[in-house]
Amino acid sequence: MNFRFITKGCGPVVEVLSPYYYEWKTCVSLVSNDYLNFTQHPKVKAAAIEGIKKYGAGAGASPLIGGHHEYHVQLEDSLSHFFGRPTGSCLVYTTGYTANSSTLLALMKSDDCAIVDMAVHASVYEGLMGTNTKRFPHNSLVHLERALADAQAKYLTRLVIIDGVYSQDGDFAKMDEIHALTKQYGAYLMVDDAHGIGVIGERGRGCIELFDLLDEVDIISGTLSKAFAHIGGFIVAKPEMVNYLRFQSRQQVFSSTSTPAAVGLLKAIDLIDEEPEWRKKLADNVAYYKQGLLDMKLDIGITASPIIPIKIGDAHKTEKVARLLFNAGVYANCIVYPGVSRKDARIRTSLMATHTREHLDKALNAFDYVNRKLKIAKDA
Ligand SMILES: Cc1ncc(COP(=O)(O)O)c(C=O)c1O
Repeated sequence: MNFRFITKGCGPVVEVLSPYYYEWKTCVSLVSNDYLNFTQHPKVKAAAIEGIKKYGAGAGASPLIGGHHEYHVQLEDSLSHFFGRPTGSCLVYTTGYTANSSTLLALMKSDDCAIVDMAVHASVYEGLMGTNTKRFPHNSLVHLERALADAQAKYLTRLVIIDGVYSQDGDFAKMDEIHALTKQYGAYLMVDDAHGIGVIGERGRGCIELFDLLDEVDIISGTLSKAFAHIGGFIVAKPEMVNYLRFQSRQQVFSSTSTPAAVGLLKAIDLIDEEPEWRKKLADNVAYYKQGLLDMKLDIGITASPIIPIKIGDAHKTEKVARLLFNAGVYANCIVYPGVSRKDARIRTSLMATHTREHLDKALNAFDYVNRKLKIAKDA
């Protein structure tokens, strides 16, 4: 396995080391979820350093037994208010993965039923191991309604779970219609907006803001590892539910929580309001890059976000594409089964606010070169 690693942190250009091939290369990076590139923002870095100076290097214990610090409280307050909810509406986890898995494990019991879009993240499926689960084809309202109708009389609690932005195709949930159906059948709605929060919406509150559902969604789940540029996850819900999860969620009881470097997150959250220009730059980059790919007739599917797949289909061909891109100084991942279905292999690219036109032109030129060599365009 050719397991590459980056030597100097996240950025629009990275140095990639590939021990298997004894290679070292400077590449335009199309692999990061650090959409606003806040991992390198001087104010975020300074705040993280201040956090470590003030509180030390680690949290020392799991939240319930002494690892819940002042900065965690500030983080939870800040995120509650970020979503326009009262103090006490947020619970922070160590990862976005556990925000989903640990929350769902604690909430969903044997007389409940989760109704999930098939394309939700693996962490959701892990959290549903103790309950009944119905999966509906991606964004299919007909199938969702059928599942809701079928589950209504059989289960105590029905929870519909969707993503805001889907992580492989970059498309949005049909959230307004899904929300309406959920209410019609007396179910609850959970939205994992890991890729939307900080990036999508006029104020960067994510897809939920875009669909004007900030006050409506029962459980918002998010990560602190993408637009917020650190590590961690959270859920935002009614304070009663948050309080229940604080004591019942296994990760809160049995696993240590984020380190004081998380103080950097407080700054990153503020910057979403203080420096909206990063979102604008990202949106401009997305428009420019997408147009360049479409001009080459590459198949980018139905993306509406900074996640832009270039669909190839065959897994071996996709690996060749990634290899040629790398040779041309562009680092992009190939996504094959089981990340996506067997015939839907693709190069998954994601953009950052700090990509310049030169970086994007380099990437587009590399795709043009690969297209001429391997014929990856739709009508080729
Ligand atoms: C949709 C979605 N939810 C949750 C997660 C997990 O987030 P984290 O990486 O913070 O654990 C991811 C991670 O890639 C994701 O794409």
